[in-house]
Amino acid sequence: MEKFIVHGEASLEGTVNISGSKNASLPILAATLLTREECIIRRVPDVSDTNYMLQILQNLGAEVERASGTVVIKCEKLHSHEAPYDLVRKMRASVCVMGPLLARQNRANVSLPGGCVIGDRPIDLHLRGLKGLGARIDVEGGNVNLEARFGLKGDTIDMMGKNGATVLGTDNVMMAAVLAKGTTVINGAACEPEVIDLANFLNSMGAKITGAGSPRIEIEGVTELGGVDHTVIPDRIEAGTFLVAGAMAAKDKITLRRVRSDHLASVLEVLGQCGCKMKIGDETISIGKADQPLGANIITEPYPGFPTDMQAQMCSLFATTPGLSVVKDTIFPQRFMHASEMKRMGANIQVDDGTAVINGVNQLSAAPVMASDLRASAALVLSGLTATGQTEITRVYHIDRGYEHIDDKLAALGARIDRIPDH
Ligand code: EPZ
Repeated sequence: MEKFIVHGEASLEGTVNISGSKNASLPILAATLLTREECIIRRVPDVSDTNYMLQILQNLGAEVERASGTVVIKCEKLHSHEAPYDLVRKMRASVCVMGPLLARQNRANVSLPGGCVIGDRPIDLHLRGLKGLGARIDVEGGNVNLEARFGLKGDTIDMMGKNGATVLGTDNVMMAAVLAKGTTVINGAACEPEVIDLANFLNSMGAKITGAGSPRIEIEGVTELGGVDHTVIPDRIEAGTFLVAGAMAAKDKITLRRVRSDHLASVLEVLGQCGCKMKIGDETISIGKADQPLGANIITEPYPGFPTDMQAQMCSLFATTPGLSVVKDTIFPQRFMHASEMKRMGANIQVDDGTAVINGVNQLSAAPVMASDLRASAALVLSGLTATGQTEITRVYHIDRGYEHIDDKLAALGARIDRIPDH
């Protein structure tokens, strides 16, 4: 295992290139199962989650080549329809091979994903949707067996859950429906940019999908799909994370390149309310500290609302912003593991029933802290950047799941982060 030593009181300047989106890459990689032809996917971030997905695809029989950010995949001959527990437990998003496997082979056997620290991660909505397309589903021994002996049949599917729409659930049903007989309508679909990117990928393969990005997606089934050359959208959560780094620690300003500011509207709105100085260009955003920083009230919601994946990072900013801020996570109410670690650094945060009440303090101070999940780890790095002293963060494998070389990128902006073995 490795740990970070984050040297405090950083002063950031310069530019940073944002990587391709992890959360767009994962379902798109799974969608290559839908064709026998070669798919080229560009700007796939080199993070452990995409590596796990490629391992799962190879396990199923895919031929995979990877050269820097470009992945070439050919699922000509699949010799399995199983995604085993030892791979699924490492990465919940592997459930999104269910839909394409079912569409390609009329059957799939995927382990139930475990929970994780941000909360129970059910897949009941995925299964409801796939059952709606005619799949027979048995859950036993921690595995989900799906079968559609005579192929899937299009229908109208309601995918809305009690906590809103499901991103990967929408992806799974869309990938199953593209080869189903007849037309499918998904009501209550997730509207995230990553769903749109997947729909664009599938349409480039020859699918007939309309309405992606809206709560109602219509899919006209086709008989086969072809290979494609696709570039993944920029990672809006990595971009948001670096925006908060600039808001906290920019000397004057930092500039993000290769971003889609239209995917960050809710984050930019909140950072504007906090007084941050921003300049939005074509595929670039510059940000500097606020002259008079202000706290804010945030409620996470499905896109285009404020993203739950940016909630921890905002807690870092608010921990040293004068006044009161309130952060409510309606999607993952337990997603506050970062708060207890920030309190070890002197933050004044009270968490109750999915809501964090934060009273800003003047400055945090270094303490040994532990990463617990992907975004909480990023939040602790941000806190370490402005704290006094050297903050030690253990279990940085969490951060490597979804951030491509975050320590190198921050070092290029002037931060000092040592990555050392943690025996
Ligand atoms: C995606 O996860 C993202 N992961 C998550 O990002 C993100 O936090 C989440 O969407 C919400 O935006 C990927 O895209 C790989 P959901 P997903 O299904 O699709 C409930 C990160 O940090 N639900 O949209 O698994 C669920 O409990 C990760 O990059 C059901 O009740 O999340 C949650 O409350 C973390 N039943 C809500 O819906 C289901 O069958 C939204 O979950 C599915 C979900």
